[in-house]
Amino acid sequence: MTIDMSQQMNDPLRVFIIHGPNLNLLGSRDPEQYGTLTLSKVNTAIRKMARELNLETRIIQTNHEGRIIDLLHRRRKWADAFIINPGAFTHYSYAIRDAIDAIHPPVVEVHLSNIYEREDFRKISVIKDVCIAQFYGKKVDSYLEALEYVASHLTSNP
Ligand code: DQA
Repeated sequence: MTIDMSQQMNDPLRVFIIHGPNLNLLGSRDPEQYGTLTLSKVNTAIRKMARELNLETRIIQTNHEGRIIDLLHRRRKWADAFIINPGAFTHYSYAIRDAIDAIHPPVVEVHLSNIYEREDFRKISVIKDVCIAQFYGKKVDSYLEALEYVASHLTSNP
């Protein structure tokens, strides 16, 4: 059997994107912090950017901590990288932190709002140290910058 290396090299890199709790309410939830786009519009922008970067994506929103952990476990073999916005779990979920720490694909942390210019409890991210990068404060562009970062990170660290 011959292996077509050129085909292998052109296979899109795979990024699994997880939106955490309350992000299903984007569009109506505190637009000043989170922007006016609905989650569906945010996902459309993510998919467009992913196409331009030749990334294959899967996107899931869940309000449940255990589901986020299950997704990190179950998709760790499929994904070349994860992008995660864990919502309020960011600030206290050692279980999500441990899950990120336990898997091999790199994980990038994203927030729509600037968590460092809000209430004190939001200034702490318990997942920051186990993620390879953090993007925040640019609304939907936080996700788009994370995608660009992931594409260049995966290309330079195959
Ligand atoms: C958020 C910031 C969190 O503090 C908050 O609980 C969220 C959204 C953001 O995207 O800015 O739900 O992660």
